[in-house]
Amino acid sequence: MHRLDPFVRGLPKTDLHMHLEGSIEPEMLLTLAARNNVRLPWDTPEQVRAAYRFDNLQSFLDLYFAGCQVLVTGQDFYDITRAYLRQAVADGVVHAEMFLGPQSFTGRGVPLDALMEGILSAIDDAARADGITAGLLVSAHRHRSEAEAVALLDSVMPWAERILGIGMGGPEVGNPPSKFVHFFRTCRARGLRITIHAGEEGPAAYVREAVELLGVDRIDHGNACLDDPALVRLLAERRIPLTVCPLSNLRLQVVPAMTAHPLRRLMEAGLFVTVNSDDPPYFGGYVTENLLACHDALGLTVAEMAQLARAGFAASFLPPEAVARGVAAVDAYVARYRADDGA
Ligand code: ADE
Ligand code: ZN
Repeated sequence: MHRLDPFVRGLPKTDLHMHLEGSIEPEMLLTLAARNNVRLPWDTPEQVRAAYRFDNLQSFLDLYFAGCQVLVTGQDFYDITRAYLRQAVADGVVHAEMFLGPQSFTGRGVPLDALMEGILSAIDDAARADGITAGLLVSAHRHRSEAEAVALLDSVMPWAERILGIGMGGPEVGNPPSKFVHFFRTCRARGLRITIHAGEEGPAAYVREAVELLGVDRIDHGNACLDDPALVRLLAERRIPLTVCPLSNLRLQVVPAMTAHPLRRLMEAGLFVTVNSDDPPYFGGYVTENLLACHDALGLTVAEMAQLARAGFAASFLPPEAVARGVAAVDAYVARYRADDGA
């Protein structure tokens, strides 16, 4: 085990950027496939894991969307949400903000209310059982049309009070934020928070569009902003959080090696950076593994990991009192660790 594993696992953390569809562990993928009579090209968890080798974002998305076929009933959505939240608790995550893209399911006849109620009940049960807080970010697909995104938004309005915000993922290059100006304006007009994947495979210009044209509350990934120093200044001035996902970037070959990951450069530029899991089974770990990988490759210190944990609470969509409690929990934990460590 890594020397710092107990410290990092015990550090109170958030996971602000993860996708429920991308959280299905291979064992559960096969169980759900059998339950719903869905044929998959793999018979064992080992075979599923062996398929998790990606050249780029699209090669991952092909598998991710194929995996979505195993989700059919409200119980399936309940089960994957509850399973992820159990893993998150074991990982020391005390608050999670989880994306799900209903368009993958409603288009093939899965009822939206079954999907929504399954996820929301699992959130409630996890809070009761384990004390973890969690919320749903409804995600639209950027490869689909803006009209389809607006139709999705209209369809989830009955649950508006229980939705933390609206996000957007999918193939980035060729689907810039500017394609969705009206959609995000409509989200805003309805009082919803907004976030978008930008600057993962796409250029700094997409991050700029997300800030200037959409007025987003957060950027998911955002790595490419470093190519535009004026944009870095803008992000820092406006304190727009970036939900960075280091192991995802490694596995999707956004970076050639962990040592080349921009996390430290983003932090040194004064940006509001958080570390998150994205699609944990596909990319080799939850938030703890992401932080440990950054410690190993980038020399992230205990103080820097604590700073990232505090940033996770500050960047969350939690109410201010809960943010303050999260930050105080990090401070108390680090003070105890230093006292025990004689540091
Ligand atoms: N959906 C799930 N993971 C994603 C990622 N890393 N980028 C874009 N869309 C996604
Ligand atoms: Zn993502």
